[in-house]
Amino acid sequence: MSDHHLTAKPWSGRFNEPTDAFVEAFTASVDFDRRLYRYDIEGSIAHARMLAQQGILSEQERDDIIQGLEQIQSRIAAGEFQWSVSLEDVHMNIESALTEAIGDAGKKLHTGRSRNDQVATDIRLWLRDEIDALRIAIGKLQTALLDKAEQEAETILPGFTHLQTAQPVTFGHHLMAWFEMLDRDRQRLADCQQRVNVMPLGAAALAGTTYPIDRQMTAQLLGFSAPAENSLDAVSDRDFAIEFCADASILMMHLSRFSEELIIWSSAQFGFIELSDSFCTGSSIMPQKKNPDVPELIRGKTGRIYGHLIGLLTLMKSQPLAYNKDNQEDKEPLFDTVDNLKGSLKVFAEMIPAISCRKQAMRQAAMQGFATATDLADYLVRKGIPFRDAHEVVGKAVAFGVAESRDLSEMSLAELQQFSDQIDEDVFEILTLEGSVSARDHIGGTAPAQVRQAIQRARQRIAE
Ligand code: ARG
Repeated sequence: MSDHHLTAKPWSGRFNEPTDAFVEAFTASVDFDRRLYRYDIEGSIAHARMLAQQGILSEQERDDIIQGLEQIQSRIAAGEFQWSVSLEDVHMNIESALTEAIGDAGKKLHTGRSRNDQVATDIRLWLRDEIDALRIAIGKLQTALLDKAEQEAETILPGFTHLQTAQPVTFGHHLMAWFEMLDRDRQRLADCQQRVNVMPLGAAALAGTTYPIDRQMTAQLLGFSAPAENSLDAVSDRDFAIEFCADASILMMHLSRFSEELIIWSSAQFGFIELSDSFCTGSSIMPQKKNPDVPELIRGKTGRIYGHLIGLLTLMKSQPLAYNKDNQEDKEPLFDTVDNLKGSLKVFAEMIPAISCRKQAMRQAAMQGFATATDLADYLVRKGIPFRDAHEVVGKAVAFGVAESRDLSEMSLAELQQFSDQIDEDVFEILTLEGSVSARDHIGGTAPAQVRQAIQRARQRIAE
C-alpha cells in the first residue's frame, strides 16, 4: 500500500494538528475492510438514487455519482486503485476517489448518512452473500454424504457408545447422522440471515437525519427485508455477527467430530477406512507414515472459530449505545470465520467421495465386543421372557463368551441353551450382523432399507 501523498481527512475541519503517523496507521481499517468495497459501492449507489428521488440530489448529480462509483469499482477489481491508509477505511477511500473523479457531486454523496450506518450496512450486505455461499457449500458436502451413504447402505461396522462396541450399524446410517447435523447448520444459517437482512442505512450517525429520506426505497433497492426500526440500535447492533459466529461454531464443532472419527478410523488399530493420498501427508522421519492432515487441520481450526465467537461477545460486552470505534474490531473475526468455514467445507466435500472403506475390517470389529447381545435379549423377550431377566441371561452368555474368547454367534446351540431353555435353532439368524441391522426397520433405524428411504427423503429436502 503506497501512501505518500498527503490527503486531507474528511473530518479535518475541527482539527488543528495532523494525526500522529502511528495513530493514523493504528486506527486505520482499510487494510482489511477494503474487502467490503463492492458492498460499499452498492450501498452508496442505492443511497444516491434515493437522495435524487427525494430531490436532495439532482438527477445529474446522481448519474455522475453512479458512473463515478462504477468506474472506481472497476479500478479496484482490476487492482488499479490506490488505497491510502491516511484515508482510514474503505468508505473514505472510495468517497475521496469519487470526489477526485467527479468533483463537488462526490462531496454530496454523504448527505443524510454517516460511516456508522454505512459500515453496518456494508457488513450486512457482505454477510448476507456469504451465508448464501456457505449454505451452498454445506449442501455440496451433504450431497457427497448422500452419495457415499447410498454406496455404503449395507456396509456394517460396530456402532459405539462410550467408544465401546455397542450394536452393529450400517455405515450408510452413520453417514446420514452427519447429514442431519449439517442440515441443522444449513437451517440455522438461513434463520440467522433473516436478522442479518435488516437495513441500518438512514440511522446516520445515531439519531437519524434531518433530510426527508425514504428508507423503504433504499431497503428495497438493496434487497433488505426492512429498514432497522431504531436508529441507535441500527448503528450499534452486532448481534447478527455474534449469532453468525455461534452458528459457525456449531458447524465447526460438527466438522471436528467428523474429523475425529475419520482420524480414528484411519488409524492402524481401527483400519476401517483409508483416506485418499491427496488428503494426507507423510512424515519426514518415519517412512511408514500417512497422516490424516486435512481432518486434523479442520479439527484444529475449530479453536479459532470458537475464539472469534468469544471475541465478538467480549467486543460487545458493556458497550454503551450507540456506535463506538470498538466495532471496527468486528470485521477480521468475521472474515476469518467465513474464509475458514468455506475452506473446511470445500475440502471435506472433496474428501468424502475419496474415502475407501475396509469392509472386512469393519465387519471383523463388529464381530468382536458382542455387538449382537441386545439382539439376543430382544429375541428372548419375543419368547415371553421379561426384558430385565433376558438382560441377565445374555449377560451370563457374554461372560462365558469373554472367558472362551468366542462371540455369541460362535457358540453351539447347546452352549447357548445353558443360559435359557427358550433358545432355539432360529437364534442364529438374529445373531448375525445382517440380522441385527435389518431388524431395526423403522424410521430412523439402521436397517439398509430404512437408510435408503432416509436418503430419498434427504435428497428431496436439499432440493427444496
Ligand atoms: N472503520 C469504521 C468501522 O469499521 C467505520 C465507521 C467509523 N465511524 C466513526 N465514526 N469513526 O467501524
